[in-house]
Amino acid sequence: MAEMGSSSSSRVGEETLVEAAVRVLNTADPFEKARLGDEVANKWLLGDINIPYDASMDIPVPDRPARLANMKLVSPSEMPKLGKAGSLQSRQAIVHSLVHTESWAIDLSWVLVSLFFGLVLIFASGSLPCFVTVRKCCGLLIEQALFAQVKLLFGKNLVILILIHISIMSSKDIIARFGMQESMPREFFTDFVKVAQDEGRHFTLLAARLKEMGSFYGALPAHDGLWDSAATTSKDLLARLAIEHCVHEARGLDVLPTTISRFQKGGDDKTAELLEKVVYPEEITHCAAGVKWFKYICLRSKIPVMVCDSVVSEEKESEEAETIGIDNMHSEVIQKFHAIVRAFFRGPLKPPFNEAARRAAGFGPQWYEPLAVKDFPTE
Ligand SMILES: [Fe+2]
Ligand SMILES: [Fe+2]
Repeated sequence: MAEMGSSSSSRVGEETLVEAAVRVLNTADPFEKARLGDEVANKWLLGDINIPYDASMDIPVPDRPARLANMKLVSPSEMPKLGKAGSLQSRQAIVHSLVHTESWAIDLSWVLVSLFFGLVLIFASGSLPCFVTVRKCCGLLIEQALFAQVKLLFGKNLVILILIHISIMSSKDIIARFGMQESMPREFFTDFVKVAQDEGRHFTLLAARLKEMGSFYGALPAHDGLWDSAATTSKDLLARLAIEHCVHEARGLDVLPTTISRFQKGGDDKTAELLEKVVYPEEITHCAAGVKWFKYICLRSKIPVMVCDSVVSEEKESEEAETIGIDNMHSEVIQKFHAIVRAFFRGPLKPPFNEAARRAAGFGPQWYEPLAVKDFPTE
């Protein structure tokens, strides 16, 4: 069975993965952010950072990752047109936009590691810091109001008993809503550390290419739509995986081949090759990570041994399909995906879809085609 994220191997004074991830998020300079992220990822992958988190520490994850103030930000509707890569100016604008997207992709990956790892603390330990975190999550104000009302009616001792009960119930509520999701295997974090490292590499390579093209990151305005849209899924891992990785990153797979061919037609083979040979194949793996862990979360409560052992391996699925009715389960997973996208993403998905790349990422047309129509049918 896959090893669960745990703090049991904690050694005094060693930096945990969550602490390192937060350090990356608090780094404002995007070049340094990418460099530091690469260093942290290598340490995790080599085992030099071995402790996922320390249950006795409450590590604050920033609401918004640090950023330099020198970038001119505008709303998505105010962004100048990028053009079709027919001129140098257009190609610079497109690469600038890609560099900015990659800079947010770095943060989004480290947030995934730190935020959802951080929430594991709540469920992995019964210690006081965890109790406090749960109280924060449930809303101190509600508890305080309840405390005052009940104290008035029944006196202090009974109030303390009731508060303990409320806190336990609140914890159970959060466990029901988030804990089952966030108690993820170590492999989940390794996958997204790799994604974060890729995004840092994309940022660095594309920013260097932009410089070769006679521009630089920060020369043009940018918009933070990607981060802003992520805010709606900041408390829900399943929604985060669906929207960021199976909608936004999958959309990137749909449009990248056109972008690549435009650069080729515009005579910029160097950028085209970078996008085709490095960015495109790695983006497929990012989308695949989202699909894989979305399936995992949906299926593990039904078939825990199989899902933990194989992380929904195709082979094992077919072996066990007949005995446990996995076809039905898969249609349930897809229905869940549809429901989440409808709840967290505004409007229909935009065709045409890159079916080959999406299939390589692990999801077929039945996942996304029903979401491409304006009025969704009821399932
Ligand atoms: Fe990327
Ligand atoms: Fe990506």
